Amino acid sequence: MVKACIFDLDGVIVDTAKYHFIAWRRLANSLGFDFSEEENEKLKGVSRMESLNLILQWGGVEKTEAEKLALTDLKNGWYREYILKMGPEEILEGVVPFLDHLEGLGIRMAVGSSSKNASTILSQIGLTPRFEAVIDGNRITRSKPDPQVFEMGARAMGLPSGECIVFEDAEKGVDAALAGGFLAVGVGSEENLSHAHYVLPNFIGVSLQNILDGIKAKMP
Ligand code: BG6
Ligand code: MG
Repeated sequence: MVKACIFDLDGVIVDTAKYHFIAWRRLANSLGFDFSEEENEKLKGVSRMESLNLILQWGGVEKTEAEKLALTDLKNGWYREYILKMGPEEILEGVVPFLDHLEGLGIRMAVGSSSKNASTILSQIGLTPRFEAVIDGNRITRSKPDPQVFEMGARAMGLPSGECIVFEDAEKGVDAALAGGFLAVGVGSEENLSHAHYVLPNFIGVSLQNILDGIKAKMP
């Protein structure tokens, strides 16, 4: 019996990957190298510091821990310039009708995001009041693929993981949901997310029943 849905934010509710990419690229360029959009894919769902470590590796650049903190602060300042301009028009198509649909069914809702900017983004797009719990990068000590963020979301609602569906666009996010015993629904391409219980391209025209039927059909 599904009682709640836990949503990842970046890539599920809004497409912030494009802003992360611009800001990280600006940082890489300032250090004398560049990276591709393909490499940027590998940063999805990954924490801020882990993202920097990957980017420095791609550029073959070494930095001290103190320098890395300064670099992540610099990047975050640039990234925040973009997210502070976001508005409800940036909510991905189909999301609001799906939230309305879940609300009508009495399904509870939470956000489970690795981002320390999650509350800012939710407030910019006007969706804060929709979620009973928001667990973000400021609250967790272990990043995805560890299930901590989703476990804290389920705990905040007083529900066991088996009664919650997690929606994720990142491979590691799906890993995290599976590791925590959640029903995992991938949002995006089947190619990266085939380990999920079910994959949706987006939320356009989707109902909870569609998802439950899809999960059932994929179960062995
Ligand atoms: C995740 C994004 O949601 O949050 C990652 O998919 C990002 O790309 C991570 O690195 C941390 O975000 P922030 O906003 O705390 O730098
Ligand atoms: Mg994501």
